[in-house]
Amino acid sequence: MSTRFFTLTRISLLSLLWAVLTSTALAQDGALINGQPWPDTNGRHINAHGGCILQHGDTYYWYGEQRPDRGFTMDGGITVYKSTDLRHWTDCGICLHTSSDEGSDIERGCIMERPKVLWNERTRRFVMLFHLELKGRGYEAARVAFAESESPTGPFRFVRSKRLHAQTWPFNMSDADILAAKQTNAAQWHEWWTPEWRKEVEKGMYLWRDMESGQMSRDMTVFTDTDGTAYHITSSQENLTLLISELSADYLDFTGKYIMLAPGGLNEAPCLFRHADDYWLICSGCTGWAPNEARMFKAKSIWGPWTQLPSPFQGTASGYRDMPADKTFGAQGTFVCQLEGRFVFMADVWNPRHLARSLHFWLPVHFDNEGTPFIPWADNWKQ
Ligand code: GAL
Repeated sequence: MSTRFFTLTRISLLSLLWAVLTSTALAQDGALINGQPWPDTNGRHINAHGGCILQHGDTYYWYGEQRPDRGFTMDGGITVYKSTDLRHWTDCGICLHTSSDEGSDIERGCIMERPKVLWNERTRRFVMLFHLELKGRGYEAARVAFAESESPTGPFRFVRSKRLHAQTWPFNMSDADILAAKQTNAAQWHEWWTPEWRKEVEKGMYLWRDMESGQMSRDMTVFTDTDGTAYHITSSQENLTLLISELSADYLDFTGKYIMLAPGGLNEAPCLFRHADDYWLICSGCTGWAPNEARMFKAKSIWGPWTQLPSPFQGTASGYRDMPADKTFGAQGTFVCQLEGRFVFMADVWNPRHLARSLHFWLPVHFDNEGTPFIPWADNWKQ
């Protein structure tokens, strides 16, 4: 028998296995079982990765990257699913399409990652921010993009994409700090990770390097505070340093007020939430699609000072590849939201060979007596 026959048989068997798995993913009440495919109401695994949930009225909307089965670039765009019970999700299709116009920032073949959607009470519009990489340029463009819509299911109109804060210094840097940053020179450092290099990063070496062109923005999230002010939190400066930036009143741009957080700390996948008077930020390390140990930061004000704490994850993902807490159970965070009165950490279990098949984890966030979050393994977010 030919190799082709074996290859075809293997592909059909794998597809069959995938179909069987996707049809057995829900608990009896329809809740997600962490570590298994999660079918939508059509029986297809939910293709909304690096995403977020937005509640509007009685309905929950789940936005995410629509990933192809093979490859890393975008054909379709950003998808949205809706649900009223957080268990059964209806595919509402693509809410922000890539463009067929040559040269468009969002031309088909670009990369759109980690979409986050906000409801703007003042403009009564839904605003989407996402990480954008331009077609054919790998991950070098490092831009944030904005889109808006009158309806939660779209279509979202692309507004702009940009780097951040060109010619603007973080508002909390003193004149002496700025002078020290201006004396750095990124071009002269060929060897990274030496103590001397790290010191220069902490002074703002990459901030200074990108001062004219604007700061890089890759993994990102958004957060709306109780007064309606919204913030963008992103991995900048070659993923070395986080930036927290205030958004303008319409959420479609920045006010220019921002800080650097943990320079040189290599934090990705930021998830920021507020519990009582404390701001919490959970991030991953920086190992591409591979899982790593998370870290957490705490502050009394969004503008800091931020204190770094250990990973909030505890235990082992028993029954699911036995992935330990120090590998975030094999996942990487994407969003923390409040669902039915509890905080839920949403994460992706990336499958870089078949990104569309990447799994979803939802884990309830618990708080100890001091109000510090911890996240033990749970088979589903209701536990
Ligand atoms: C991860 C990041 C993902 C994606 C990936 C590409 O570190 O969190 O969103 O950008 O790298 O390699």
